[in-house]
Amino acid sequence: MNAQPDLIVIGAGPGGYIAAIRAAQLGMAVVCIDAWANAKGGPAPGGTCTNVGCIPSKALLQSSEHFDQAGHAFADHGIAVSGLKLDLDRMLARKEQVVRQNNEGILYLFKKNKVEFVHGRAAFVAKTAEGFELNATTAGGEARRLVAKQVIIATGSSPRALPGAAFDEERILSNTGALAISPVPKRLGVIGAGVIGLEMGSVWRRLGAQVTVLEALPEFLGAADAQVAKEAQKQFKKQGLDIQLGVRIAEVKTSAKGVSLRYADAAGAEQKLEVDRLIVSIGRVPNTEGLNLQAVGLQADERGFVPVDADCRTPVGGIWAIGDVVRGPMLAHKAEEEGVAVAERMAGQKPHVDFNTVPWVIYTAPEIAWVGQTEQQLKAAGRAYKAGSFPFLANGRARALGDTTGFVKMLSDAATDEILGVHIIGPMASELIAEAAVAMEFKAAAEDIARICHAHPTLSESMKEAALATDGRGLNF
Ligand code: FAD
Ligand code: NAI
Repeated sequence: MNAQPDLIVIGAGPGGYIAAIRAAQLGMAVVCIDAWANAKGGPAPGGTCTNVGCIPSKALLQSSEHFDQAGHAFADHGIAVSGLKLDLDRMLARKEQVVRQNNEGILYLFKKNKVEFVHGRAAFVAKTAEGFELNATTAGGEARRLVAKQVIIATGSSPRALPGAAFDEERILSNTGALAISPVPKRLGVIGAGVIGLEMGSVWRRLGAQVTVLEALPEFLGAADAQVAKEAQKQFKKQGLDIQLGVRIAEVKTSAKGVSLRYADAAGAEQKLEVDRLIVSIGRVPNTEGLNLQAVGLQADERGFVPVDADCRTPVGGIWAIGDVVRGPMLAHKAEEEGVAVAERMAGQKPHVDFNTVPWVIYTAPEIAWVGQTEQQLKAAGRAYKAGSFPFLANGRARALGDTTGFVKMLSDAATDEILGVHIIGPMASELIAEAAVAMEFKAAAEDIARICHAHPTLSESMKEAALATDGRGLNF
């Protein structure tokens, strides 16, 4: 592409690459710049999600779950396994292969949609009469000047470090190191019982590590519905995850042998913990360093996010920002929705992204998924609601699968019956939640779900039963 592009997208994570493709579909000439390099220094589009986030974590969650099942659950099905052995190198290599397939898939999609991809690091230079001038330092060290009237910042986020405990990816691990531990540590510490802590803690526990999770807040999984959080805590404890709440980390020291921690427990008593490796998963910070935002009159807010309005417009006309680098949930599908919406707004369309219908999923076993409001949020808002639950224990398919943990819970408005929230803990919660998101987008009532024919025997019948239960009409429970 020699002429000036219509749009430059900085970052090819799920926000940026999807925005670039949608803009190209709408007839724009698009350049997408991304700095991520694979082990050989080559391009690796897909951002955190593809390289060290959603995709590799789900690959390891699947592999480790198979291992756990083979060791603990197959016997119940009449399958005797002897000589079960972990080939961690192979498991990690498979994960890398899944990542590579996704990287290559995105490069293919760029070609197919005629998006020009530049493998390099971008920084703003100036705002000129021609548009916004950027410099892209390519992987080979060359500088390339690019100018466009529209720019989308989709630079994502990075792991937050614990003060005084910088990531070395050897002993103190971010999500990057947590996805590549070898051999399986005997004792693994995790700071932060959030989404990464629970998912990665589960992976390494299943593979044989003794896992201790230290969480600052006194309450477990505060963002989830309290009933779901309670059930999850019970299940994780049963599996052997040692989750300690209300702790204050005082000191983290590394040595050649491992990591020593000193912390105050919930009662304020000093405790010590020795582990071989420590995962720090205490949230993420937006990536704006090195972007030279001030060159175009932009400034990150006090928390480091690029400021945007509800439509992802920054205060500088022509510059937009999406995904983890802006407010809102740090989720790949939220970034994607914003990417599509911004491209369509540039083309004069009027799309809308509703954070209330963005589903959340935690891919542990049991899986946890929800969309909409929790019961505690509805109570705090003084909203009159009805609640209906259905346990997987009463679902035929769950029994056949041998996976009857958890339940589906539906909350609907007391007067109109509109579905306000759905909360699931149990098998395939990640897939089941889609029905709830669709229903909420269509402003469906619990009655609508209750009257829809669901195939038998499926886990999805539990959604219908939870809907029936909001009206006291459960048929199978
Ligand atoms: P990113 O994916 O971070 O991509 C930003 C890209 O911009 C990167 O490639 C970066 O190299 C590039 N970049 C940054 N600065 C520059 C620059 N100056 N020049 C050029 N390129 C630049 N979310 C889910 O929805 N589901 C999950 O299951 C899930 N699992 C996760 C598991 C883990 C371990 C982690 C860490 C995150 C997970 N997430 C998950 C969150 C998800 O990865 C992020 O929300 C998502 O990647 C954000 O997308 P993004 O496009 O905003 O940014
Ligand atoms: P998180 O926000 O989910 O959890 C961080 C946890 O660390 C919180 O519970 C917090 O109270 C705790 N914490 C903070 N400071 C602490 C301290 N000093 N000591 C002890 N505990 C402390 O963040 P996490 O797990 O790092 O993940 C980042 C983001 O990545 C998530 O918010 C999520 O948006 C995304 N993600 C999504 C996944 C999914 O959708 N399945 C999977 C993994 C990550």
